[in-house]
Amino acid sequence: MVLRMHLLLLELSWLLSLVAWPWAAAFQAAKPGCQSHCGNVSIPYPFGIGEGCSIDASYGITCNTTFNPPKPFLSETNIEVVEISQDVARIKNTFAFTCYAQSGPVIDYKLAWIYLDGTPFTFSHTANRFTVIGCDSLALILGVEEHNLKNHSSGCLSQCYHKEDIIDGVCSGVGCCQVPIPKGLKRFIVSSGSLYNSTRVWSFDACSYSFLGEQDSYTFKASDVSDPSFRTRIPDIPVVLDWVVGNQTCQEAKRNLTTFPCRENSYCYDSNNGQGYRCGCKKGYQGNPYLPNGCQDVNECEDPNNNPCEGICTNTIGSYYCSCPKGSEGDGRKDGHGCIAKSKEFPVIKATLGLGFGLLFLLVIFSWLYFSIRKRKLMKLKEKFFKQNGGLLLQQQISSHDHEGGLESTTIFTEEELKVATNNYEESRILGRGGYGTVYKGILPDDRIVAIKKSKIVDESQIEQFINEVVILTQINHRNVVRLLGCCLETQVPLLVYEFVSNGTLFHHIHRKDRNPHFSWENRLRIAAETAGALAYLHSAASIPIIHRDVKSTNILLDDNYTAKVSDFGASRLVPIDQTQVSTLVQGTLGYLDPEYFHTSQLTEKSDVYSFGIVLVELLTGKKPLCLERSQEQRNLATYFIFSMKENHLFQILEDRVVNEGKSEQILAVAELAKRCLNLRGEERPTMKEVAMELEGLRRSEKHPWVQQDQEESVGLLSEPSDLYPIPQSSYSCDTSGQCSLDTSMLLSMNFPR
Ligand SMILES: *[C@@H]1O[C@H](CO)[C@@H](O)[C@H](O)[C@H]1NC(C)=O
Ligand SMILES: *[C@@H]1O[C@H](CO)[C@@H](O)[C@H](O)[C@H]1NC(C)=O
Ligand SMILES: *[C@@H]1O[C@H](CO)[C@@H](O)[C@H](O)[C@H]1NC(C)=O
Ligand SMILES: *[C@@H]1O[C@H](CO)[C@@H](O)[C@H](O)[C@H]1NC(C)=O
Ligand SMILES: *[C@@H]1O[C@H](CO)[C@@H](O)[C@H](O)[C@H]1NC(C)=O
Ligand SMILES: *[C@@H]1O[C@H](CO)[C@@H](O)[C@H](O)[C@H]1NC(C)=O
Repeated sequence: MVLRMHLLLLELSWLLSLVAWPWAAAFQAAKPGCQSHCGNVSIPYPFGIGEGCSIDASYGITCNTTFNPPKPFLSETNIEVVEISQDVARIKNTFAFTCYAQSGPVIDYKLAWIYLDGTPFTFSHTANRFTVIGCDSLALILGVEEHNLKNHSSGCLSQCYHKEDIIDGVCSGVGCCQVPIPKGLKRFIVSSGSLYNSTRVWSFDACSYSFLGEQDSYTFKASDVSDPSFRTRIPDIPVVLDWVVGNQTCQEAKRNLTTFPCRENSYCYDSNNGQGYRCGCKKGYQGNPYLPNGCQDVNECEDPNNNPCEGICTNTIGSYYCSCPKGSEGDGRKDGHGCIAKSKEFPVIKATLGLGFGLLFLLVIFSWLYFSIRKRKLMKLKEKFFKQNGGLLLQQQISSHDHEGGLESTTIFTEEELKVATNNYEESRILGRGGYGTVYKGILPDDRIVAIKKSKIVDESQIEQFINEVVILTQINHRNVVRLLGCCLETQVPLLVYEFVSNGTLFHHIHRKDRNPHFSWENRLRIAAETAGALAYLHSAASIPIIHRDVKSTNILLDDNYTAKVSDFGASRLVPIDQTQVSTLVQGTLGYLDPEYFHTSQLTEKSDVYSFGIVLVELLTGKKPLCLERSQEQRNLATYFIFSMKENHLFQILEDRVVNEGKSEQILAVAELAKRCLNLRGEERPTMKEVAMELEGLRRSEKHPWVQQDQEESVGLLSEPSDLYPIPQSSYSCDTSGQCSLDTSMLLSMNFPR
């Protein structure tokens, strides 16, 4: 019977060791190639025996083989190690005692101390207790916490009068007394003594003992007080040391990944006992977190105690999951719903009904979702375009201008309003297509007729510019400039709403075939003067100078009274007041383009003057600025015109009606003015203001003394051959740096006058 019990116990302990093995073994790995044990103590990395086997010298272990089995010692302090595990180490204990003679004097004593300064170890404040044994014992412990060198002292008094008063396992001051130690203790000294010379209790207790040791490893026995061999058993009560792998915090240590010791699938945690941190394997992993690939997946499914699965357990890397075998359902967990066998009979009608209702319900939900998402998307898109088109900027500008009253008439139209106004951008509503967009005729709800321009895609970098232009244009109030009424920013491309000018473009009237009684010389001169006046106003009178950049007869609109209205500011540039010229991508219409600007990319107000000169010549000659049907020399109107003036057959190229209706001095003066505008050197061209004043003067007076004078002066200029220049017949493209190249393939996309 006894034998059987014994066998059973053996078996049990074997089983226990099996179960405990994976966990205990988990951390025990030494660095590959290093001695893994010293005697029967395993030495896991970061500790190690010998050079290079520990993470650094303070983790070094010396294995003294003169003992049998060999004993490990901490290399730096020569303290014997009993065990090293994941986060604690156990070391051999030491103790203090004082023994008295019957008459009172001390006959033997010893102090005890352990210093851990400069090591990665700290006395565990949770596992250790300072213990004093004796019936007239007073012992003191002096400790030092390393990091702030705080001194700590504590003591314990144990007294008893009769041997019988002492109770096994109770350490509360009668024969035995225990006190905890503070956190972060790095060193201690204990001494023991007595309060009453021990004479009173000498008969059963001649010595008092004190030591720091693992609480769980020592159970007080009454006999210990008088047992002389107790002394030899104390060293077997180990002292528990917490150890750390570095003396910083995790956060500090992680900053340098080359020295950070926590490897794959591990985490770092700060020590709760003084400075430093340790590493641990993540949940679902086990092993030595300080070694590369040290943390290995735990197969939770191997041990039923390790997982809560009732059904099938499937291991995954770092985790596991539970499922149910075929024919049953549930989450497969003991702590959940477990697995329940599926019911055999299948309720057909119930299922069909359920399915039907389910599908119907889903359909309703999905269509509702679909529509609400679509609506939201549309709203978002509108909002996005509004922002992209600088709506916010404009709103801000408008509110900042509000108190000045300048923008009171600017309206931000909604997309819907303009869609209704143009009858959904009907083809028949198109008034024209320009280089910068398509213009539609629109009728607003209050019956106002407007022109709505759908701009071409504006790139985002131009938004601010665009908005500034819109703001400036809405501020311009000139009878010869088309008025901008508002804009719509909710669409991908901004829509601009202008006042509607009823009588078409100047180009149309100059080049129409039938004779128009209203398009007399007098009217032409007035249109020229009004246009010049408007441009002069843009150049100088507006708060920031505006260069139109695309002056041409198609951009001058006429109303019912043949009053000129300058339009299409799509390419216009604002010139900062402190600058007289800006570098831009060359833009404009072939035939009207200032050659100096084309060559230098330097945009100045004089470029508009040049273009206006071409319009003047158009008004005089009734010819198109660029006509591929004309012969090579006559193809470019500017060249042809100046050449004709030089050759003195100006009147041959003028339109008959102009020659018939106009006074020749007046015509000559306008021609001279046009020639000055067409000067190749921008500097030598007159300003728009001068042009406007001259034209106004010509309109009013029959004859002006400076007409003759001016003519004489220009003769000299005319004789200069440099006045002749070729305008490229093919299209050109220029980049922002002003580098231009010819590209015939672009000819089709150019903005030719119609
Ligand atoms: C090591 O061996 C000693 C004696 O041989 C034994 O008392 C001790 O429990 C052993 N330690 C371990 C960790 O197995
Ligand atoms: C091993 O221990 C013995 C006995 O304490 C000592 O004499 C010897 O110097 C130690 N050897 C080493 C290498 O520490
Ligand atoms: C701690 O005690 C030692 C020894 O008595 C003394 O030298 C040291 O100054 C003390 N430190 C502090 C911080 O009180
Ligand atoms: C302790 O013993 C000494 C003699 O060794 C004696 O002088 C002293 O009075 C004693 N003290 C007490 C408290 O009994
Ligand atoms: C931390 O440890 C390093 C080397 O292990 C040592 O040089 C340093 O003095 C220690 N710092 C503190 C505050 O203990
Ligand atoms: C990380 O530690 C290594 C070794 O101590 C050192 O050479 C390196 O400069 C440190 N890097 C940083 C970013 O501190």
